[in-house]
Amino acid sequence: MAKKKTTRRRSTSATARSSKKTSELRVAMLGTGFMGRAHSNAWRSAGTFFNLPRPLMMHSACGSNLAETEKFARQWGWASGSDDWKSLVCDPEVDLVDVCTPNHLHAEMSVAALEAGTHVACEKPMAGTLDDARLMRDAAKKAARKGVQSFVWFNYRRVPAIAYAHQLVKSGRLGRIFHVRASYLQDWGHPDTPLVWRFQSKKAGSGAHGDLNAHIIDMARFLTGDEVSEVVGSVQETFVKQRELVEQAGSAIKGTGSGGRGRKRTGKSTVDDALLFLARFKGGAIGSFEATRVATGNLNRNTIEINGELGSFKFDFERMNELQWWDHTLEPGLRGWSRIMCTEAGEHPYVHAYWPAAHGLGYEHAFVSQVADIDRMLAGGKPEVPMPDFVDAFETQRVLEAAVISARDRTPVPMSQVK
Ligand SMILES: NC(=O)c1ccc[n+]([C@@H]2O[C@H](COP(=O)([O-])OP(=O)(O)OC[C@H]3O[C@@H](n4cnc5c(N)ncnc54)[C@H](O)[C@@H]3O)[C@@H](O)[C@H]2O)c1
Repeated sequence: MAKKKTTRRRSTSATARSSKKTSELRVAMLGTGFMGRAHSNAWRSAGTFFNLPRPLMMHSACGSNLAETEKFARQWGWASGSDDWKSLVCDPEVDLVDVCTPNHLHAEMSVAALEAGTHVACEKPMAGTLDDARLMRDAAKKAARKGVQSFVWFNYRRVPAIAYAHQLVKSGRLGRIFHVRASYLQDWGHPDTPLVWRFQSKKAGSGAHGDLNAHIIDMARFLTGDEVSEVVGSVQETFVKQRELVEQAGSAIKGTGSGGRGRKRTGKSTVDDALLFLARFKGGAIGSFEATRVATGNLNRNTIEINGELGSFKFDFERMNELQWWDHTLEPGLRGWSRIMCTEAGEHPYVHAYWPAAHGLGYEHAFVSQVADIDRMLAGGKPEVPMPDFVDAFETQRVLEAAVISARDRTPVPMSQVK
């Protein structure tokens, strides 16, 4: 990232502004694609489901095409549309910038906002590269001294089943942890998918790895409360080396190619399609992680299983309202996997804000719940479930980096070597 100073500054100091704990929270969102839609829905509905200390004001949405962004803004409830993110990040009328652009833009946008005293909520992976992530972490540390906060959208933490599993581990119900078994499998990256930004290392950093392993590394760290001490081995592969150039980015992850009209023009994919690695944790557990976009038949299969001395759980996002639980403290004859519906208000985090028991939640609710937690934190309160900031997300980024080095050099990588 080329580090540029923003020209316009806030008229009031960041400290003075962030001390208004009950005033409106004015949000500008950068990026109007898949995440732009998920986040717009969240900013729009969080105040309806949750009793928020700071009323939300959807100040502006920002995209690369002004006419399309203005249309998007009208559709999703933003007061205005813009194509000028540099003005928005330091606009005194904006309290928080929500970054949902491709990965290579996260650092420049987030650092500019933090330096201008604007809170930042940034999509995952925190950045495409460790260098960018480090700039973001350092800017966040500096800004935090003036009361400016950073947040990262690791949304799966806020799925009630995962948040509840976190509480089970924390309360000691699993005892000593032996295994973490995590995989995030998708199949939209088949050879007919064109060369969208997600296959270009300059924009994405990495492929399935940064996109999907970032989520399960964060989930593993969050669920165990432990940190990876070493990436023991890693393997990556780019199965589809050339892809058709993109005709239209569109709102789908895949975009569209020329669809066979005329002669196909192709370009080189510069990211992994799959990356698998093994890890050791500081507390003594071992873990396996697998991310792929070509696991045919697995559409969005984010799974994690943790085995402890006293019990185990399994989660599969395709059945996101359920947690499989094995209680090893029961007498052997009674032991078995039980299916917990994580839809009980007062027991399972966030459910109180939504529907009666067993009226399941969906993908969008974790984002709505994250907005509620961000709002609470910016009012001086605590999130319902711990929230990753840039310092926390930097640790996930270090593990991503260690796995890349391990695959490249075919060697174990102790985390102490990745700064
Ligand atoms: N948390 C999750 O589960 C999840 C899921 C998907 C994507 N993501 C992350 O969200 C981010 C965005 O992904 P997406 O799927 O929404 O991508 P997308 O391609 O659908 O959308 C990207 C948006 O960025 C905008 N953009 C690009 N350059 C811009 C600029 N200079 N100024 C303003 N806007 C600009 C584009 O107009 C587009 O609207 C990525 O970091 C991705 O990894 C997270």
